[in-house]
Amino acid sequence: MKKGFIFDLDGVITDTAKFHYIAWKDLAQSLGITIDEAFNETLKGISRMDSLDKILAYGQRENDFTLAEKEALAQKKNDEYVKLLADLSETDLLPGVHDFLAQAKEHNIPCSIASASKNAPMILEKLGVLDFFGHIVDPETLKKGKPDPEIFIKAAECIGVVPNDAIGFEDAQAGIEGIKAAGMYAVGISATETLAGADLQVTSMTELDIEQLLTI
Ligand code: G6P
Ligand code: MG
Repeated sequence: MKKGFIFDLDGVITDTAKFHYIAWKDLAQSLGITIDEAFNETLKGISRMDSLDKILAYGQRENDFTLAEKEALAQKKNDEYVKLLADLSETDLLPGVHDFLAQAKEHNIPCSIASASKNAPMILEKLGVLDFFGHIVDPETLKKGKPDPEIFIKAAECIGVVPNDAIGFEDAQAGIEGIKAAGMYAVGISATETLAGADLQVTSMTELDIEQLLTI
């Protein structure tokens, strides 16, 4: 029996990738770098600073900024991103998410969030689902980002579940790799990408049968 669920946030609970994309695209543009949606795909699951580093490397500007300047650029991107999230509400939950979380609660299955986003608590609050989660891993406490398993191991530990008894839900390749490296069952959620290594892939949470998952 599985005893705990660990969720990524962006692309699993809500679709914030489009807002990250707008904010990164604008910032990159201001530096003379053009990114497209295919490049944005490679930023999914990657921390704010690592995303900035990837963009600068892509535009061959990786040696042009001091750490303080890069921090200011990351802050500028986040300011725009947070503005774009102003109207986020329960209607922005991805299909099947609310139902699935409610069912997990009925089954007394603890849930936690393993997201690289420092905006996770604010986003979950706006979506009206904060109370479903027993813990949100603070990405500031991590030594390594996804695909390292650290965030998933912490997310399981914090809800008192051993990795082998946990199921991780992810929309990004780096996340699936992290879940598998943590020794958990990986559910990939994506309608557009094939997530290599996922134990099960669905296009949305509406396809998931909680009773069946728990007995895996
Ligand atoms: C998630 C998203 C990434 C984002 C990261 C950091 O993992 O998939 O695209 O860069 O969180 O988010 P933040 O809200 O802290 O900038
Ligand atoms: Mg994601």
